[in-house]
Amino acid sequence: MASRQFPEHFVWGTATSSYQIEGAWDEDGKGPHIWDAYAMLPGRIKDGSSGAIAIDHYHHLEEDVALMKSLGVQAYRFSMCWSRILPRGEGEVNEAGIAFYNRLIDLLLEAGIAPYVTLYHWEMPLALEMTYGGWLYEGIDDHFAAYARLCFERFGDRVKQWMTFNESNAIAECGYRWGVHAPGRMANPDTEPYLCAHHLLLSHAKAVAVYRQEFQAQQNGQIGIAHNTYWPEPASEKAEDREAAERAFDFTVGWLHDPLYRGDYPASMRQRLGEKLPSFSPEEQKLLIGSYDYIGINHYLSKSVSHSDELGDDFSGVIGTKMKEGCLDFDAWDQGYPHGGSAYPDGFRKLLEKVSQRYGQPPIVITENGFFQETLAETSAALADDDRITYLNAYLAAMHDAMTAGVDVLGYFLWTLFDNFEWSEGYQVAMGIYHVDHTNMRRTPKRSAAFYQKLIADNAVSL
Ligand code: NOJ
Repeated sequence: MASRQFPEHFVWGTATSSYQIEGAWDEDGKGPHIWDAYAMLPGRIKDGSSGAIAIDHYHHLEEDVALMKSLGVQAYRFSMCWSRILPRGEGEVNEAGIAFYNRLIDLLLEAGIAPYVTLYHWEMPLALEMTYGGWLYEGIDDHFAAYARLCFERFGDRVKQWMTFNESNAIAECGYRWGVHAPGRMANPDTEPYLCAHHLLLSHAKAVAVYRQEFQAQQNGQIGIAHNTYWPEPASEKAEDREAAERAFDFTVGWLHDPLYRGDYPASMRQRLGEKLPSFSPEEQKLLIGSYDYIGINHYLSKSVSHSDELGDDFSGVIGTKMKEGCLDFDAWDQGYPHGGSAYPDGFRKLLEKVSQRYGQPPIVITENGFFQETLAETSAALADDDRITYLNAYLAAMHDAMTAGVDVLGYFLWTLFDNFEWSEGYQVAMGIYHVDHTNMRRTPKRSAAFYQKLIADNAVSL
């Protein structure tokens, strides 16, 4: 078995997000947010569940940090819930919310685990949504920057790694085009996703400016953003399919990262969308360009892309869920896999190389990668997650190949630590390396937890 060794200071971690694990949705002064409200609407979450209790991480902090320590991770990526800290999104601060995150951060540091904090993993405070219209409001960047400032002030002495947004394109597309995530809008699918993303980008840039001007020199931390990615593989060698795949990249990663790199959206988006795509002023461009210390990459799968003349203003390609060859063969992925796509490890290498080339070889952190599985009724079957191990082995080997080819990957965060609330899928999808029994909240390691523990100890992957 060939072994691929990682660099000495490579960072291994696991990742979660607040609404997916915390629970305690209305405890200790927390204000409601859009996911609290959205999940209550009938029919929105497939199994009728919500993250109101989730896996009750809020009341299991010590246990959960101890379990991370036993895994040997050097870092933990989690998100802060805006309305736990500012119940109305602005104004009065909830000190109990601040105390909760202080306790988590302190426990992590005592355990030798570095906190990587995402400021926004999809929970717009309901008050801001209802008063101003959330991400569709052009002044929302000031609210986000004020919230970010508060977090830097209160936690930045100990938190040295920040991310502004998680998966801005998912926020825009799922929340404003398809209506499958909060706030569930489908009224103006041709314009609102672009407006939402525009405001997310400006909010990001403003928060980063706050960090750089007021905190970074003393606190000595770094700030980035986490993007949702898939590898678009051309369905054939035909030039039109290759161009369609190129555009698919533009309409996902390019949409959210080109503005941060060179101050504007990709030309192919402008060409197809025209006025529907908002524009940046010169001052805004100045704020956007270079507004990150590293790029966070969430990556799970590849999709096959072919050209089509019939589609409208989107990138005019057809996304096939199944790749031709080179895929890992998992029954679960062929059947009910929620997002469509294939487990194609080499697509991960190609994606990383592409991001690195396009954006001037920036430092990259893999902020999410992991394996989708249906939730199984039998605990013993759920714990025997050998497919996850196969997936992780192959994907980590592909990541190593990208690093060998010169991609500057600093760290890797496995999604996810626990089976948790998977948004509109509810609890029907199990992505954790720990199983959680919802009758007693007992956490049990799956086989993949032992696999990951050994991989971290060896700092190597064998394939
Ligand atoms: C994307 C999101 O960041 C995370 O919240 C989600 O659970 C996983 N990827 C899996 O879909």
